Amino acid sequence: MARPSTPSNSPANPANPAVTGRVCVLNCGRCQHGHDPLELQTVCSACGGPLLADYGLDEGAPDTLMGEAGLKRVLARPAGQWRLHELAPTAAGAATPSLGEGATPMVRAGRLLAELGLENFWIKDEAQNPTGSFKARGMAAAVARSVELGATQFCLPSAGNAGGAAAAYAALHGAEVHVAIPRATPATIVAECEAHGAEITLVDGNIADAGAHIAAQAAEHGWFNLATLREPYRLEGKKVMGYELLWDLGRLPDVVLYPTGGGTGLIGMLKAFDEMQALGWIGSQRPRMVCVQTAGCAPMVRAFEQGAQHAEAWQDPGETAAFGLRVPGALGDSLILDGLRATSGTAVAVAEDALLAGTERMAREAGVWASPEGGACVAALESLVRQGWVKPDETVVLFNTGSALKYR
Ligand SMILES: Cc1ncc(COP(=O)(O)O)c(C=O)c1O
Repeated sequence: MARPSTPSNSPANPANPAVTGRVCVLNCGRCQHGHDPLELQTVCSACGGPLLADYGLDEGAPDTLMGEAGLKRVLARPAGQWRLHELAPTAAGAATPSLGEGATPMVRAGRLLAELGLENFWIKDEAQNPTGSFKARGMAAAVARSVELGATQFCLPSAGNAGGAAAAYAALHGAEVHVAIPRATPATIVAECEAHGAEITLVDGNIADAGAHIAAQAAEHGWFNLATLREPYRLEGKKVMGYELLWDLGRLPDVVLYPTGGGTGLIGMLKAFDEMQALGWIGSQRPRMVCVQTAGCAPMVRAFEQGAQHAEAWQDPGETAAFGLRVPGALGDSLILDGLRATSGTAVAVAEDALLAGTERMAREAGVWASPEGGACVAALESLVRQGWVKPDETVVLFNTGSALKYR
């Protein structure tokens, strides 16, 4: 693994405490090439792959965090996104500016439990985050760390929820943000971005079209692009969902269902499991991870079923209420596919009517008024239970990633 030489203000030599973070090196998820974490980074300079933060746990984690005693110490801290600040990227650590992200409810799935014939089925309700979606977790980390490293002007393409979250955290940090979103994005989200002072461009087409538009603008104006996996720290925010599985349940579940677009949450949770193993909090066991997509745009499901290493971009993604899943191609495709296979997981595509029915069931039978992306996971779970892939006595966690309120 190629590592950068130790920068003069690295954690080992903190000449500049304002930017000294806890990340030792940023390694490419494809080719392992190392990058300096004390500079603003985008993707791998060698191969264009996504960069992952390495806290040097292989060379020894902080003693205070290790083993059962370390876990107990961390659990004694206030719950929330910054609870494990030693493995968060910001120099500010526990004092990182926050809107209250993280520590979302783990809801026992009400009547849905019996309806699906399950004994231990939980909904991790990410809609309870600031800005009504799990995108708050990633943006809290990415905007904070990038501001520490000197960024003041941001941009991103978004299916909607990420744009709203970026706008809120940019407002919190006094930064500027430009958001390109598909024209079909719900008016509530456009209003949210505007309320926080973001500049919005409505783009014809899907998120890939918005991505191409904003990349050109970023190059022209020098904006820092927060697009999925095109900077390393949204992943660091999202990984905390993986930690919270253990913190909430006292053990990892057997099965996790996650509605997958760009896959940052899924990749982040897999990273959290590896970090927890390095800390001696868990062994080598992992939940079986389930990637859920829509039948009209299922590049990861197709690649998983074909046994492929990479996912070809999906041509002409179909309209769906779950606009966060209308993502034709993912930069982290191989990380997602490797993670599904390494955990003996699977990938499921659900039809639009099943997704809408799943959303309705979660509202009526579990009291969670979920985003359609969460509803897609109910449909996928029903099908996996029917096939016997999920057993009645297994512990299952389904991620509801957003609030229905934003889809009005
Ligand atoms: C509500 C919701 N769920 C899931 C996703 C997909 O998330 P990811 O890109 O992390 O796979 C999105 C993305 O926009 C979303 O808004």
